[in-house]
Amino acid sequence: MPTVSVVNVDDQGNPIEGDITQVEVEENQLLLDALDVQGVKLPRGCMAGSCGTCRVEVLEGADNLSDPSFVESDTITHIHHSYKEAYDEDYLAGMQIRLTCRAKVKGDVKIKVLKK
Ligand code: FES
Repeated sequence: MPTVSVVNVDDQGNPIEGDITQVEVEENQLLLDALDVQGVKLPRGCMAGSCGTCRVEVLEGADNLSDPSFVESDTITHIHHSYKEAYDEDYLAGMQIRLTCRAKVKGDVKIKVLKK
């Protein structure tokens, strides 16, 4: 079974040093659902890939998630645009964003919730 590691963050979205929740999940489940079943509650909204509320940064194991659908890719593109307007280019450097309501778990992955 894949392991999902969630780097816990404070109210401003900054990682809390050494505070990581690790759970084993069923393969091919949506990331949000897989964590929910294990008692790990993540932000959520539309549950359809369009609002972006469930966005996370994938820190490790991006290849262990299903490929993004058109809807997810479109929403992530909008998130990137909003970040470019709000922050400098360095903020997005190397950042891999996924939506937990759309991405399915294929293997081990490490994520961090994006609160802004
Ligand atoms: S909950 Fe709206 S995009 Fe995932």
